[in-house]
Amino acid sequence: MKDIFDYFAAQRDRHVAELCTFLSIPSVSTRSEHKGDVARAATWVASSLERAGLEDVVINPTKGHPCVTGHTPHVAGAPTVLVYGHYDVQPPEPLELWKSPAFAPEIRQGRIYARGAADDKGQVFLHLKVLEAYKAVRGGCPINVKVLIEGEEEIGSPNLVPFVKANKKLLACDAVIVSDTHMLGVNTPSITVGLRGLAALQMTVRAAKSDLHSGTFGGGVANPLQVLAEILVGCKDPKSGKIKIPGFYDQVRKLGAADKKALALVPHDDAAWLKSTGAPALFGEAGFGTLARIGARPTFEINGMWGGYTGEGVKTVLPSEAHAKISMRLVPDQDPREIVKLAKAHIEAIAPDHVKVDVRIDKNMGSPSFVDPNFPAMAAAARAVERVFKKAPAFTREGGSIPIVADFERVLGRPTVLLGFGLPDDGLHAPNEKFDLRMFDKGVRTLACLIDELAAAQR
Ligand code: BES
Ligand code: MN
Ligand code: MN
Repeated sequence: MKDIFDYFAAQRDRHVAELCTFLSIPSVSTRSEHKGDVARAATWVASSLERAGLEDVVINPTKGHPCVTGHTPHVAGAPTVLVYGHYDVQPPEPLELWKSPAFAPEIRQGRIYARGAADDKGQVFLHLKVLEAYKAVRGGCPINVKVLIEGEEEIGSPNLVPFVKANKKLLACDAVIVSDTHMLGVNTPSITVGLRGLAALQMTVRAAKSDLHSGTFGGGVANPLQVLAEILVGCKDPKSGKIKIPGFYDQVRKLGAADKKALALVPHDDAAWLKSTGAPALFGEAGFGTLARIGARPTFEINGMWGGYTGEGVKTVLPSEAHAKISMRLVPDQDPREIVKLAKAHIEAIAPDHVKVDVRIDKNMGSPSFVDPNFPAMAAAARAVERVFKKAPAFTREGGSIPIVADFERVLGRPTVLLGFGLPDDGLHAPNEKFDLRMFDKGVRTLACLIDELAAAQR
């Protein structure tokens, strides 16, 4: 590997500069005014793949944003992996909290600050540079690497499932490799084996036909904001943190002895974790520890609620409407389609007759996934991690979601290795998102070793 590692060292400055160019494209998938920028990021990925020697590089149009595909020159008899990632990013707001602008990447103390630095442009970039290195140093990649980089992950990958279904042959592989998660620390390597799923809904509570004078009418008809709060308490118990939607936990896979053992092996310190959040105390589902609460158990969260008067001073108003956005993180074997139905039915059932409640189910949902760590590509990944970090990886469950991973299993019938190089404090979706350059260096090396391990396993 020395030849490849030397190449990374020699090209480091150019590589970082290139990543900065990629990060300066505001490819915000949820905003229509950025459609052109999202397309520009796709073109950037495609030309970078071509320069790394990939063949059949295509920018595939979809009903939404395009996905980019390509593959290394075919090596007969060698294993095939599919590398998946996303070039779209979350909106940068609130802008005033960024120390340097979100789309003007800046390096401070060995960290690169920009929206998408860790999620996921920086991590996609690692794969591009590993392929470039094999081509430059060895004349090519010793295994078959297919690449699928999409532009809609941050909006729930609405057009990727049809693309995967329609292109099963093109994407056929032995395993999928995804770098879009984090490790426990710079010197505490880990591989993710579980992702939570996601289901979301929005609810509106209405009473009077318009806002009313709270003196003239207040006390005579219901206040929708008050009722919204009551309904929400009816969905999750304030004391036990248990979700009160009937049937919600029915499909939750019980943590077996092996799962508990794996959780116990993950280095975790509640006090340090709590400190990193800034909250005054831990809170979560009764009967479970923090690691289980954030990785192995489902949640019900209010992402936003609004209504009434929120401006300066006092306004004596009886609002006519109240709104809330809810999302639920799901675990195996909960089905997001089933869960949103249960939630809607429960909300409608507990809503009192003195209001009208309207529940809208969100389309962007993802299934949870859990990968059995016992398959060849996972073992190769663990060996690659150990070669670079000089330590065996822990196997962790991630609380976040990558919707397409469950579909890779379902549609392609293949497991995914979630080998990410972010860190827990990277600030994904938040101001001052960063990617640690130590993880950048370890990332390219580990992914290069992974290809080497996969090639060796075949010989
Ligand atoms: N890369 C994240 C998933 C993730 C989050 C991994 C935290 C590791 C730690 C991904 O880009 C993401 O943000 N997913 C969304 C999915 C949603 C928009 C459908 C999520 O988890 O909220
Ligand atoms: Mn991501
Ligand atoms: Mn994200």
